[in-house]
Amino acid sequence: MTRMLIINAMIVNDFEVFDADVLIREGRINAIGRDLRARPSDVVIDAQGKALLPGLIDDQVHFREPGLTHKGDIGSESRAAVAGGITSFMEMPNTQPTTTDHDALEEKRAIASRTAHANYAFYLGATNTNIASIKALDPHKTCGVKVFMGASTGDMLVDDPRALEEIFTASPILVATHCEDTPTIIANETRFRKQFGNDVPMRHHADIRSREACLKSSSLAVNLAKRHGTRLHVLHLTTAEEMALFSNAPTDSKSITAEVCAHHLFFNASDYDTHGTRIKCNPAIKSEVDRQALLQAVQDGRIDVIATDHAPHTLAEKQRPYFQAPSGLPLVQDALPALLEHYHRGDLTLPLIVEKTSHAVARLFNLRDRGYIREGYWADLVLVNLDQPRIVNKETVLARCGWSPFEGYRFQSTVDMTIVNGHIVYQNGQVVDPPRGLPLEFNR
Ligand code: DOR
Repeated sequence: MTRMLIINAMIVNDFEVFDADVLIREGRINAIGRDLRARPSDVVIDAQGKALLPGLIDDQVHFREPGLTHKGDIGSESRAAVAGGITSFMEMPNTQPTTTDHDALEEKRAIASRTAHANYAFYLGATNTNIASIKALDPHKTCGVKVFMGASTGDMLVDDPRALEEIFTASPILVATHCEDTPTIIANETRFRKQFGNDVPMRHHADIRSREACLKSSSLAVNLAKRHGTRLHVLHLTTAEEMALFSNAPTDSKSITAEVCAHHLFFNASDYDTHGTRIKCNPAIKSEVDRQALLQAVQDGRIDVIATDHAPHTLAEKQRPYFQAPSGLPLVQDALPALLEHYHRGDLTLPLIVEKTSHAVARLFNLRDRGYIREGYWADLVLVNLDQPRIVNKETVLARCGWSPFEGYRFQSTVDMTIVNGHIVYQNGQVVDPPRGLPLEFNR
């Protein structure tokens, strides 16, 4: 493996921003210093003052393999991910078949070992009846147990109260929940169907997948976790009210942590009229007041992690009427530039974006040697030009579905280069083969 030297970087790491060089050897960070130019190296990259961040660790993606590969697969979506500066991903179980036992997990790991361009781990999906598989899973290899406490894409709702009690009591690792109360949603759907038939205007999505549905379900998850001492991570929160469920204590000290997603920080309900079902997702994008509350919670520490919930569907699927159009947006390629818009607007600092997209994720999941620009750690890095504007367009989309919810938006920042395990995997707008992802390891 080559020795790579990155010079003239503006490093953003561990709440510091400083100019330095980085030497990479054997895939890991060997040295970080003011002047490493004299050190022997095979490749020198002049960062020209661009921002060098730890690669993003995305703890919520849907890469659709096996079974739904017309929407995407681990190879195609991880290509898009590294083009977006994401160097590790944790993938969700609502594939076909669902990932609800050991064999299904092993099948995904085998596929990823051949095709993943970023480092990978997979969630085991909970069902009403697979507590034995949950108890038997390997805490060193599996990122978490995903519980759909609200029905969404795939048929994975866990709604048996006794099953939930068992999962929250017996899971040997972190429980990650999708929280939306399904009975509330069904009642809302019935009401709107009566008024509009099959073609409900998209602006009512947040009335159907309502704030009450979110709060009811996330309150239940938090109460269960408090009662059973569960390590709970609540995914993709969307409402101001839910923020009151979470503490602003340091991430490492909390047993209940919280995630928001890039699109919920970017869009608000007024965007439904222009974007329609393209921004239909579960939980729904809510109001501007909610968006502001989520940003505030990122700043004050109640939100620990920012992820993408990359969930590609084809445009043909998305163009169906309201009830038939599937929920989910392709996000991995554009999430970092979209998040950096918050930096340019003065809403979030660069170190805070790095904390929520990389450092905190690594700590929260006890990841071995990843998530920081630190000597001895794996060299998972993203070089970002903070002042190279780009208008997002269809032609450069790498996700198999071939579209982006951000088409037409002008982002101030561009991902220049991505490095995974010491290899350049994205440069000059191109993904570099072969795939370089390794399995994530958990220190548990
Ligand atoms: O919008 C969503 N899409 N939310 C989910 O929970 C699932 C995801 C998907 O898999 O399409």
